[in-house]
Parts: sequence; C-alpha cells; structure tokens
Amino acid sequence: MHMPKRDFLSLLDLSSEELDYLITRGKKFRQMHAAGEVHQPLIGKTGVLILQMNSTRTRIAFEAGLHQLGGHAIFLGTNDSQLGRGEPIEDFAKVISEMVDIAMIRTIDQEDIQALAQHASIPVINAMSSLLHPCQLLADIQTFEELRGSIKGATVAFVGDGYNMCHSFINAARQWGFNLNIACPPGYEPKADILNSTNNARMVESAEQAVKDADLVVTDVWSSMGHEGQEGNRKAIFAPYQINEQLLDQAGKDVLFMHCLPAHRGEEISETLFDDPRSVVWQEAGNRLHSQKALMEFLLLGAQ
Ligand code: CP
Repeated sequence: MHMPKRDFLSLLDLSSEELDYLITRGKKFRQMHAAGEVHQPLIGKTGVLILQMNSTRTRIAFEAGLHQLGGHAIFLGTNDSQLGRGEPIEDFAKVISEMVDIAMIRTIDQEDIQALAQHASIPVINAMSSLLHPCQLLADIQTFEELRGSIKGATVAFVGDGYNMCHSFINAARQWGFNLNIACPPGYEPKADILNSTNNARMVESAEQAVKDADLVVTDVWSSMGHEGQEGNRKAIFAPYQINEQLLDQAGKDVLFMHCLPAHRGEEISETLFDDPRSVVWQEAGNRLHSQKALMEFLLLGAQ
C-alpha cells in the first residue's frame, strides 16, 4: 500500500499519539541493541544526510542507525554537493528524490529545510536549524520516560538561551502535556509565537524559580551555532543561568539533568555537573541513536 510521505521538520508534524509510539519504539530499539538483536527492515533503502554545520551525535545516529536497520547512509558536508556552489535547493530536492529514500538536513534557516521538504517526494527530517531541534527532544523524552515513567504532568525547567532547544521544549510541552518553566536573560527569550502557542510553557524570573519542584532540568550552550563572534558578551549575560549542583539541590528530590551536548564546562554547567548522579547526559546521547532509528523506520514504513 502506498503511504503518503511524512516529514519531521517539527514536533508539531506528528500527533501526540505518533510521538508516543516513537518513544515506545525507541525504548524497544535500545533494548534490542543491548541484546545484540539484529533488525533490518530497511534493507535496500538509502538515506542522505546533509550537514551544513558540525555534528557528532546527529551524524553518528543517522549513519549508524541506518546501517543497523539494514540501509545505507550518504553523508554530504557543505562542500560535498553542488548545494555548496549554489545549486537551488528545489532542484537538489527533486534529484535526491529520484535516487534515495529519505533525507536529513541541518542548516541555519528552517525555511531551507521546509523548501527541501516541499520539493522532495521523500521524507525529510530536520537535523537542527536555528529555530528547532526536534530529533533531540525524541531522545530527551525517551530518556526521561525510561527513568521516571510518563512525562505527562511533570515539571520541566529550561534555563538558558531561548533558542532552538528552548523552542523545541515548548513544542514538546504542548505535545506531551508537561509543564515547562523557562528562565532566560532579558533579550534572549524564545520567540513569542512559539511560546504563546501553548498554555503549558511560561517564562519565570530566575533560574531558581524555574527549577523549583522540577522533575527535569535542561540547558544548552550559551552560544549556539549561528552566534559566532558573540561568545564573550554572552558569558557575562548568561552567568546567573549556570546549572550547578547547588541549583539542582533546589529542584525536586528525584530531578534529572539533561544537556543535548556538546557542553561547555564552567559556562552553562559547572565543571563537575556531569559527575553528579542526577545527570543522565550519556544515556540521553545514546538515545539519539535509538530514537532516530525509530523515526526513520516510522517515516519509511509506518508504525510496526
Ligand atoms: N545534540 C546534537 O545535536 O549534537 P550534535 O550537534 O553533535 O549532532
């Protein structure tokens, strides 16, 4: 049966039920991986990964994930394709649709990702833009639910820059029904249209207010990709928003800490935070693989 193509450019592209399915499937894939179980439903399928910015986790999850599912991955860095020499993204989209089965793209402008999806007849996955990072949220919610059960109704604190990770946490609060407290320095708040799209997310005055009674505390770097040259200024502005052990002590007693990585110790986190038992960043990073496998299988084959 022919399946209409689905894209994953935002968490809002899937229903809450479909997102829950992906979490369940990602958990299953984690268990199967640990047991050495081989599952290759994507034999004969090829995916292309277009990265116009650096990546460790997203690239490895795509390449290793597609390989483990029986498929083949092609990596295209900025200068590896004619996109780097100005080939229109509309033409590129049509060409890759003739040759491969799925595409994943990381670039600054969400509009470029939308253009690729609009002109491609194959599923397109957002590997991160300056606006959103939806794949990271699949791993984060999976990790929380593996360790604490359903995230519905939980309290989550996002402390730091109101940028792509914050936007995706707001979308996640809307889709999974948790309460999100956001603390950002003045002038670095998330986009108002995203914040105002749900009653589940709210701005608070300080990091301390955000983490009060939180079940999960998250942050991201103070200077993301796209903020090059602003680093010095941002260190002073964001200093009151560092996550450290003393701040986590003010959260709920079973709080977890997550960070999408890479991290800057001594800036958005204390030097020793990853050694604290409340930090689950390595499991979170590993779940990029399992959740991305669940996503690719779903977009190519539907729910199994
Ligand atoms: N968290 C994340 O997206 O990591 P990479 O930038 O290494 O892919």
